[in-house]
Amino acid sequence: MARADIPLQSQWLPFTPNRSFALDPRVFVAAEGMHFTTHDGRQVLDGISSLWCVGAGHKRREINAAISRQLETLDYATAFQSGNDRSFEAAERITALAPGDLNKVLFCSSGSEAVDTALKVALAYHRARGQAQRTVFIGRERGYHGVGFGGISVGGIPANRKTFSGAMLPRVDHLRFIHDPVKHAYYNGVEPVWDEDLLLELEQRILPLHDPSNVAAVIVEPVAGSAGWYVPPQGYLKRLREICDRHGILLIFDEVITGFGRLGTPFGADYYGVVPDLLTFAKCVTNGVIPLGGVLCRQGIFDAVMDAHRDSPAHQIELFHGYTYSGHPVACAAAVATLDVFRDEDLFARAGRMGWVLGDVAHATLKGLPHVAGIRSLGLATAIELQSRPGLVGQRAYEVFLDCFRQGVLVRPAGENVVLAPAYVVEPAQIEQMVETIAKALRKLA
Ligand SMILES: Cc1ncc(COP(=O)(O)O)c(C=O)c1O
Repeated sequence: MARADIPLQSQWLPFTPNRSFALDPRVFVAAEGMHFTTHDGRQVLDGISSLWCVGAGHKRREINAAISRQLETLDYATAFQSGNDRSFEAAERITALAPGDLNKVLFCSSGSEAVDTALKVALAYHRARGQAQRTVFIGRERGYHGVGFGGISVGGIPANRKTFSGAMLPRVDHLRFIHDPVKHAYYNGVEPVWDEDLLLELEQRILPLHDPSNVAAVIVEPVAGSAGWYVPPQGYLKRLREICDRHGILLIFDEVITGFGRLGTPFGADYYGVVPDLLTFAKCVTNGVIPLGGVLCRQGIFDAVMDAHRDSPAHQIELFHGYTYSGHPVACAAAVATLDVFRDEDLFARAGRMGWVLGDVAHATLKGLPHVAGIRSLGLATAIELQSRPGLVGQRAYEVFLDCFRQGVLVRPAGENVVLAPAYVVEPAQIEQMVETIAKALRKLA
């Protein structure tokens, strides 16, 4: 397809430098397995499972067939005052996979919606138990929780907040970031061990400042994904769980990236052995083919909201929240088929094994190359942190991304990190190709 045949004028691309894109458009027209075909007929190896979504690889026949069957039976049904069989089936499958008593799912269509839903459920839960004063949320610096107003408020990536700072939720605080670029620049498959207790500030400064009785929830990503794959210190999430329990504060894990296999376990909660009260998911649940997200809630949260209405008239809705496309039958059919593929091919375990290959190859090949300031690997993801040009943070990573794309590999620039997070079906030779392509790009870089 010639560039002139693509009507590039009308679309405003998300999280993209649109001016530079217009000069050198990158347009995908097909995908299969680990590869894309571009508009100009080139093959590009998908090194990021299309933004952490396509765990089982592109164009899986089983998933596409399930979608077709669903379209032939129930294409769509209103989500309010009724349900559809496929959404109940998907909910049952997802809760069966989830740890602890995360027994109820509220569906939505994206990670951002899942986060805003989780924050609202936290408020509803506290109100139901007579603690409506609990409205403070605590996120973490450089956390990413999508782009809704709730998500950017608890999120901690400055660029995502700057333009909208006047419209944030009013009662939010942030934990400090979980990275020490000097002591923990490089780690491979391990949790960094800190001398210092990073959560002391929560206990000694943040909670006393707001008073714990006013705090609704703490929200963190088990591993900070969008900021550039930062792994929490050893024991951090367990201790966070204990602190939240001590003060009646809900713990929300945003597992939009770590959910469904990225760490080699079903959820990050399983990897770390910590069960949150609410768990958000989206990416990978349908292998990327149809938008679907959701919030897993512990049984007690659902029960508390229901109990608060035990004397209400029967027509009274307990939670005034939901989306037109909550539990969309076609998305849920895709989810059920995706979970079948993950199970039948044991892909979470494969993600764990390929994660070691990725971590080892990245460290062996890239450590010591020009501009490399750190490499962080855990599960099937690795971030290579680059030294920044003065005043131009992110420019080097962007240039590496562009060069890799020209050389036939899709990587992700995240701040000054270059991130790899391939599909779980990736082969070792493809991992080597991805890492070698980054190495070549780094050697060329000024
Ligand atoms: C941890 C986390 N939460 C929320 C989101 C937002 O998801 P979406 O882009 O589907 O709204 C993302 C997206 O990358 C994410 O990584």
